[in-house]
Amino acid sequence: MPVADEALATRLADRMLEVERALAGHVRSRAPFVTSAASHLMEAGGKRFRPLLVLLAAETGANPDSDDVITAACVVELTHLASLYHDDVMDEASLRRGAASANARWDNHVAILTGDFLFSKSSELTAELGADAVRIQARTFTRLVEGQIQETVKPGAGEDPLEHYLDVVAGKTGSLIATSARYGARFGGATPEVEEALTAYADIVGTAFQLSDDILDISADAAESGKTPGTDLREGVPTLPVLMARASAGPQDARLLQLLDSDLSDDALHAEALTLLRAHPAVEQARAYVVARAQEAKALLAVVPEGPVRDALAIFADHVATRTT
Ligand code: IPE
Ligand code: IPE
Ligand code: MG
Ligand code: MG
Repeated sequence: MPVADEALATRLADRMLEVERALAGHVRSRAPFVTSAASHLMEAGGKRFRPLLVLLAAETGANPDSDDVITAACVVELTHLASLYHDDVMDEASLRRGAASANARWDNHVAILTGDFLFSKSSELTAELGADAVRIQARTFTRLVEGQIQETVKPGAGEDPLEHYLDVVAGKTGSLIATSARYGARFGGATPEVEEALTAYADIVGTAFQLSDDILDISADAAESGKTPGTDLREGVPTLPVLMARASAGPQDARLLQLLDSDLSDDALHAEALTLLRAHPAVEQARAYVVARAQEAKALLAVVPEGPVRDALAIFADHVATRTT
């Protein structure tokens, strides 16, 4: 992520190295097989978006060098990583971070239990941050899991599918990204006012982050995303472009609608649906929606003092809306 201010960029990079070192230790188990399963995706890559947000939010406070900031950054990445092990089981995904998913490399049992192991590690670490942090972490996890489960449930009668979906996204992805900013602000010693504003900002940024991911599921290739294109589509997981295409469908979309309602585990049908969607105006409409959400998030930064940190937070929101990986 581009941080314009060189001194800030260097500080963040140095702090990120500390986080990496700590993370490598946290995925270790006394059982060598557990260590190898848990370090598999940690070592495969990943953007480290959530710990970076912890570090950046901490820069708004009086004490960004606190050890608790590093601990908090590890907590959110471990929670995220655990959720990826479980998510790939749910989504039957075979590629993650450019590597075989744990369920593909081993099996669903290994993936689920490794996810549990990582959640436990994350909880153990959160305890070092005190009871409030544990409460926040538990609430975050509740929202994340509710979002993941709600995604598998159709919207209720009379419920707008897009509203239902935005609620899912706020839960499964917005929650942990919001907590990343909250932890960063809190353990970096920011004022309560800034902590609240950054949490609200990151809730929206987190939603935008997931909606960008939805667009990338349609538009990116595996070399860019490290994931198989059209995975959501194949699994029938509703995403923003698909919901927008459905909502705006005209007579010219008859074939697309027919495909969206069929079993897309068939390779030829899946490829045809992906091609039609890539050319559909709903993809641009989805992009415009995400950019508008990023603007909304940036408006919440007004309480952060002007300077390189606020600028970086604004760029962070823009980057999320326009990211290609
Ligand atoms: C993937 O998250 C799951 C979503 C919530 C979209 P990331 O896109 O942050 O995945 P990594 O950590 O970079 O692999
Ligand atoms: C992942 O959502 C959300 C969580 C892991 C909590 P997706 O299923 O949409 O993300 P990707 O595309 O697999 O990364
Ligand atoms: Mg998935
Ligand atoms: Mg999923």
